[in-house]
Amino acid sequence: MADKAKMIVDKDFRIAEVDKRIYGSFIEHLGRAVYGGIYEPGHETADEAGLRQDVLGLIRDLQVPIVRYPGGNFVSGYNWEDSVGPKEDRKRRLELAWRTVETNEFGFNEFVDWAKKANTEVMMAVNLGTRGVDAARNIVEYSNHPSGSYYSDLRIKHGYKDPHNVKTWCLGNEMDGPWQIGHKTAEEYGRVALEAAKVMKWVDPTIELVACGSSSINMPTFPEWEATVLDHTYDHVEYLSLHQYYGNREQDSALFLARSLEMDRFIETVTATCDYIKAKKRSKKKMLLSFDEWNVWFHSNENDSKMEPWQIAPPQLEDVYNHEDALLVGCMLISLLKHSDRVRMACLAQLVNVIAPIMTENGGAAWKQTIYYPYLHTSVYGRGQALVPLVQSPKYDTKEITDVPYLEAIAIHNEEAEEVTVFAVNRHLNESLPVEVDLRSFGQCQIIEHIVLESDDLKAVNTAAQPDRVAPHKNGNAVVDGTTVTAQLGKASWNVIRLKVSAK
Ligand code: AHR
Repeated sequence: MADKAKMIVDKDFRIAEVDKRIYGSFIEHLGRAVYGGIYEPGHETADEAGLRQDVLGLIRDLQVPIVRYPGGNFVSGYNWEDSVGPKEDRKRRLELAWRTVETNEFGFNEFVDWAKKANTEVMMAVNLGTRGVDAARNIVEYSNHPSGSYYSDLRIKHGYKDPHNVKTWCLGNEMDGPWQIGHKTAEEYGRVALEAAKVMKWVDPTIELVACGSSSINMPTFPEWEATVLDHTYDHVEYLSLHQYYGNREQDSALFLARSLEMDRFIETVTATCDYIKAKKRSKKKMLLSFDEWNVWFHSNENDSKMEPWQIAPPQLEDVYNHEDALLVGCMLISLLKHSDRVRMACLAQLVNVIAPIMTENGGAAWKQTIYYPYLHTSVYGRGQALVPLVQSPKYDTKEITDVPYLEAIAIHNEEAEEVTVFAVNRHLNESLPVEVDLRSFGQCQIIEHIVLESDDLKAVNTAAQPDRVAPHKNGNAVVDGTTVTAQLGKASWNVIRLKVSAK
């Protein structure tokens, strides 16, 4: 057993009210995310629109508040006009980002319909790779203008009388990356993002915009990219994006689980850069963050490098997630919550089949990957006030990251439901961790349940044949005495301790 860890939470020491959009996700026209994922006419569960109801059910359970669409790298070659109107007229295109053929059978309007059925909001990206200001203003007109103009009337002609009223728009995707179709320097991107932002808001002043930050903390242009882009766009956008994926290529699980500390550093450096530009501009506005791509991504890299090009919806980026991946996803969710004063939106990338919590077989089953569970638990129980986690924990060192606390944790206070939920990961790979949570500012507390995700095998995965190999149980050992909760967190475990609390 490891040395004891301690956490103090006080209802008055708040980080922020968690914006529910921090539990967003992402669907890209990539691999089988759309075709064979959310959309498969002919599947036994498909509705009249071809939407898989088994997949929709698993998504609704996650209570996903917002979904980014249609990319990703895909959006930098996307002609939105190809994806609307009569299906028989839609163009097949070579899709250069992922080297496939896009049939456009499923497009923008179909996605808006899907989002309604999934009880979610749309976060739409515009193409600032091959296209620019003109296409950006036209899609906002098509989507959000009521009627009486060419593009709004075209939407009506396509069967959508009411505007879609998409509120959140991304100004391109990962424009700092040389892999991007139409990659730009920070100066070039900053200029076009500013001009696109202006006209998009002239069409619909109620929309909110996300400018592209760096594609990862490791980009050579980080954080100069952020500073230059914001120099141009600060007054015209509400959010700056962050993207980050981690892998365990070196098979060093202790280091892998420490990666969320890098995510903390990434968010804090981007925040500092935003505040630098705020000071430089003598601005009163606080730039918010949209961490609109994050996850574990590496398992499928080798397979993908062997893929034959120009197929329609081939399996791509189909990472099969194991138990340790779920633990890091849990740590990353805690990192987002720890920074919920600035991170208002975030998208687990992605939602179905492509580096996703949900996997499907074409014509077959849909099941939950290991990472589904921390995402589910935080989305469902992590709504309310994020409380400052004062954590004292024994620590460990890795070859790259030192002083890694075994305990990663945060508490969320849902005042309306009179509940506090503690999300906690024990990063120790071999020993359980005794933890004491001091809830001194709350009245008498009662345990509602202690949910645990654990496995004897860090590499255990869920498959169609064994969909529940890694699944949570509710036999956690948390007990409460007055306002002190104690628990032994199992080695390498994800924990959700739900408490009924009363105000003192
Ligand atoms: O999510 C997969 C890809 O990762 C996205 O298309 C791109 O934006 C990022 O590099």
